Amino acid sequence: MPLPVEDVKAQVPLVDVVNAAVRLQQSGRYLKGLCPFHEEKTPSFFVFPERGTWRCFGCGRGGDVISFVMEREKASFVEAVESLAREAGIALSQQEERKRSRQQILAQINLEAAQLYHRVLNEAPDAARARDYLAERGIEQETIARFMLGYAPNRFDTVRKHLVQLGFSPEDLTAVGLLTEGNRGPYDRFRGRIMFPIRDARGRFCGFGARTLSAEIQPKYLNTPQTPIFDKSGLLYGLDLAQQSIRERKQCIIVEGYTDVMMAHQHGETNVVASMGTALTEKHVKSVKSLTTNLVLALDPDAAGSAATLRGLEVARRAFDRVDTQVSVGDIMRLESTLEADIRIAVLPEGKDPDEVLREGNGAWQECIDTAVPFVDYAFRMIARQHDLSSMQGKRRAVEALAPLITDIGDPVARQQYLKRLAQVLDLGIQSEVLMNLMHARRPTRQSPRAVRPNDGEQPSANGQEQPADRLEKYLLGLLTMHPEARGLAAEVIDAEDFHQPLFRQAYEYVRAAEGNGTASVGESEEGVHELLDRLRRERSIEPPIDEEYLRPTVIAAALRLKRRNVQEEYEDLQLLLASENANENKPLGSQIRQEIRRIGEQLRQVNRALKQTSFIRTS
Ligand code: CTP
Ligand code: MN
Repeated sequence: MPLPVEDVKAQVPLVDVVNAAVRLQQSGRYLKGLCPFHEEKTPSFFVFPERGTWRCFGCGRGGDVISFVMEREKASFVEAVESLAREAGIALSQQEERKRSRQQILAQINLEAAQLYHRVLNEAPDAARARDYLAERGIEQETIARFMLGYAPNRFDTVRKHLVQLGFSPEDLTAVGLLTEGNRGPYDRFRGRIMFPIRDARGRFCGFGARTLSAEIQPKYLNTPQTPIFDKSGLLYGLDLAQQSIRERKQCIIVEGYTDVMMAHQHGETNVVASMGTALTEKHVKSVKSLTTNLVLALDPDAAGSAATLRGLEVARRAFDRVDTQVSVGDIMRLESTLEADIRIAVLPEGKDPDEVLREGNGAWQECIDTAVPFVDYAFRMIARQHDLSSMQGKRRAVEALAPLITDIGDPVARQQYLKRLAQVLDLGIQSEVLMNLMHARRPTRQSPRAVRPNDGEQPSANGQEQPADRLEKYLLGLLTMHPEARGLAAEVIDAEDFHQPLFRQAYEYVRAAEGNGTASVGESEEGVHELLDRLRRERSIEPPIDEEYLRPTVIAAALRLKRRNVQEEYEDLQLLLASENANENKPLGSQIRQEIRRIGEQLRQVNRALKQTSFIRTS
């Protein structure tokens, strides 16, 4: 039996569900009230009972009864349908009921365990050291209660005994990660550690983080493993306590550590959550999206600074006791553009974590947050710093490092915005040759914006089809491979840069250089180049040779078409760029771009004219 979606929509009146959350007033055929999803003083939230729909004209949210529950309870579609069905007494399939009730049992187990740990921390004699530790760190009693901190005694059967006594099965205790399997049966996973219960946005107890009391014991944190209700990569620690404040302040601050979150809340900074040491994921962003899309990542300079390492593409952080943590620049850019988020980065003072900055007082924390820079600008700057930007060559290298990130962005408008920001960071004029190269660099992915990386020319792209853009390059290179005498001709029309596949570009440079004496060096990837040229030679040798008299127009036409492809795309890119500049009312840049558009437009016309003159020839 599928989910009873239609039954729920037909049987549960939207008005009843909304009424439980919002004071509604009748106003003609609809009802209105203050939107529960954003701050407002005058009502812009409307319910249309006849259609069973709602819409807020303030924040743009809207939908049916299911989407209302999804927003309201931070629930998934399935969860929303299930909870509505249950309340309305609509039967769920047995399988769903079972899954559902199993998850409830597992969460219940965690809740019981958390309460036990909490009691132990507050009362047990052998938790004295833990209490002292927390006191030393300045964690107040109220904070301990709010986050329900606990202590797991240094024994093997505290949780097992207590929870089995309450009637839970050892299997379920293992499934939820509280017990691990040993030779003589399951025993307590967490021992001698401070326990941080991890709750999801709806306050359900999903798992635990457990910190050692002494530096000798590793790992510093032991976490609940992946379970049916615990997915570390999707949870934000503290979100259940932070959501109200995130909505009000229109900002969500993401730190790394459990302790950082607790200290922030203790200092009144209640819009702070933690990603628990993993990279920011789409799930994270989605889980706060209904509250705000303004995110600030508060990274300590360790993590932030290493953006300069690791091929410049990732902010990576590895410590010996933790799984590696990566904030990939490309990932964040994708998150921003697909989820329309504004992700900023607040760099904390050298050697300090949020906890220490907060403790410092004097508005130090607020200042860090207020001076957060857009993540992408920041990452660009970090990467740019690796290159000597005083030289054109250095700029070119920086562009090369950053191009793949930008080319991956599916949304053309976002892509243009990043391009513009890159131009600013590198202090490049918009018409600069270097930037044009960047635009070129993304050609290979154009036909399938988010799927494939630039094809190395060895294989057809992922979907098994050769892309038209690749075909042009291959055709021309094949011609030149077979007809060394035509290479000079092609060079009158194109440069190596007109090939967008790196390997093809190298191969072209190679055949050009080899023209005179038959040998040339291509450096590192020599092998790849030779393989490619051999392959092209084999493929072409099956086709009939081109008559001498047609060779010249054939090569020129092929080169011109490659050129036209590039100029055309350049032209389109500039148009897009102009549109986004106009939107930003950037007048001076706008006129620069327009000038460039005229120049490229003229080039395009020239190429087209030249192509017409050769068009009596069939070339492929
Ligand atoms: N983390 C983890 N496993 C580890 C180490 C760290 O899961 N072995 C995660 C935890 O969520 C931790 C976060 O990464 O909170 C940040 O790590 P760290 O800065 O080392 O911990 P803090 O929470 O800041 O702890 P403390 O200040 O007590 O040292
Ligand atoms: Mn810390």
